[in-house]
Amino acid sequence: KAIRKAVIAGNWKMNKTPAEAKVLLEGIKPLVKDAGCGVVCCVPYVDLPVVLEAAKGTNIGVGAENCHWEKSGAYTGEVSAEMLASMGVQYVIIGHSERRQYFGETDETVNKRVRAALDAGLTVILCVGESLQQREQGITGELVAMQTKIALGGVSKEELSRIIIAYEPIWAIGTGKTATSEQANEVCKTIRDTVAAVYDKSAADALTIQYGGSMKPANAAELLAQPDVDGGLIGGASLKPEDFAAIVKAAT
Ligand code: G3P
Repeated sequence: KAIRKAVIAGNWKMNKTPAEAKVLLEGIKPLVKDAGCGVVCCVPYVDLPVVLEAAKGTNIGVGAENCHWEKSGAYTGEVSAEMLASMGVQYVIIGHSERRQYFGETDETVNKRVRAALDAGLTVILCVGESLQQREQGITGELVAMQTKIALGGVSKEELSRIIIAYEPIWAIGTGKTATSEQANEVCKTIRDTVAAVYDKSAADALTIQYGGSMKPANAAELLAQPDVDGGLIGGASLKPEDFAAIVKAAT
């Protein structure tokens, strides 16, 4: 675990106008400036200019919440990885369960987006995770391993250094229900074992794997203490500077 970098990333989802985004980032800045882990804020496309400006010269990395796989063209409403990189964006979330659930994304389109993001020079926060029904069917490990394998298709071992995987059980997202730290660790370990099988142990050992799903100050330390949990992808609590900073502190 010591060889891996812990990363706490906020996923603001569809929240904050540009003016509000600036206020939020300014609020987060002083509270995380001495962080001993990586700190990232992933924000709506329209908030990127103000957030990039406000984060300049700080330890906060800035990310988008999705990107398309084509470089440009007739894809109304989409934003390419190149466009993001050209602005100075460093990170992008790919395959969030809300994208898979509500916007028809599949393991195949997730893979295309991962490929495009890497080609544009971005670091990917790749989300995987099971629904409650899938957990109850006992197929969590199998499913998450498959999601991981397909999403990483065509990704080289060298490129894995620009991949973070976030394990987000769908039933724990925005529900207040957190996976127990044992459940979180078990699946994060399955992901690491999958990466070890596809690549090798050294690649797997160096991979940052986050947990996401109702992570908050009260449960962060316990989750982050697990051997295979290297950080968090934070939804609701990332919109509150004190809460987000407390989670960052727990990862340090
Ligand atoms: O991507 C983060 C997320 O889906 C978790 O959301 O609100 O449960 O922390 P939340």
